[in-house]
Amino acid sequence: MEDRLKKDFEDAVAFWDSALGATDEEKQEILDTVEGNEWKDMVPSPKLYDAIEQVAKNGRFLDYGCGQGWGALVAAKLGCTDVTAVDMAASAVDLLKVYAEAFKVGDVIKAEAIDEKWLASQPDESYDVFLCSNVIDVIPLEIAEDILDNAARVLKKGGKAVIGMNFYMSPETAKERGMDVRENRYLFDNGVMRLSLISDEEWTAIIGKRFAVEKLDHFSWPGESKEGRRLFLLSK
Ligand SMILES: C[S@@+](CC[C@H](N)C(=O)[O-])C[C@H]1O[C@@H](n2cnc3c(N)ncnc32)[C@H](O)[C@@H]1O
Repeated sequence: MEDRLKKDFEDAVAFWDSALGATDEEKQEILDTVEGNEWKDMVPSPKLYDAIEQVAKNGRFLDYGCGQGWGALVAAKLGCTDVTAVDMAASAVDLLKVYAEAFKVGDVIKAEAIDEKWLASQPDESYDVFLCSNVIDVIPLEIAEDILDNAARVLKKGGKAVIGMNFYMSPETAKERGMDVRENRYLFDNGVMRLSLISDEEWTAIIGKRFAVEKLDHFSWPGESKEGRRLFLLSK
């Protein structure tokens, strides 16, 4: 990969590492105050919850690029007994460990800070479910395609994958709005790569090379009026 894209990727992960962590005080507050079903409040959309509910009990579950780990928490709380959650942002993984303890699934979720080679080191056909939410569309496409190749490889035959993404914005629209678009493909904010500008059709073709696309749905986050975010439900 070009040095510049590599640097953009490293900067993006550093951004997430600083954005998704918590102070010791905040972690202690989580341990002291969260209770009951509050893990459900962490899920950004009912459609994401439903997607995980449909596959969570199927066996080994991998939340790749887990961030603070709402996906892993849902899978564990819904009865999956073998959940792995990994991310390159160590601070996010630390916070997930706190949530896992607070919600009493610390023994179920194996949370690990990884480097970009980790997925390639996982054995073939070793997971039943692969979740990847808002990861492959915030990094260089070359790395996203490598993740998809390995995701398809580590998934067992008949396994399910759930891939969530941000909304699509065309490069033209982004430029009209005065945004920082580079290579006609990536949106930068304050010098950090934040989004790849890839349409539903392009993603369907990219993903469809590796998985059977069962459904492309759309969802919104709380407060958004339009369901523009993409949700791919896949199988191998
Ligand atoms: C937008 S956050 C999404 C976090 C979480 N999955 C969610 O839905 O809230 C993107 C995450 O992907 C992680 N990430 C980016 N590239 C990655 C890679 N190649 N391998 C693993 N994690 C990666 C970042 O560190 C960050 O935590």
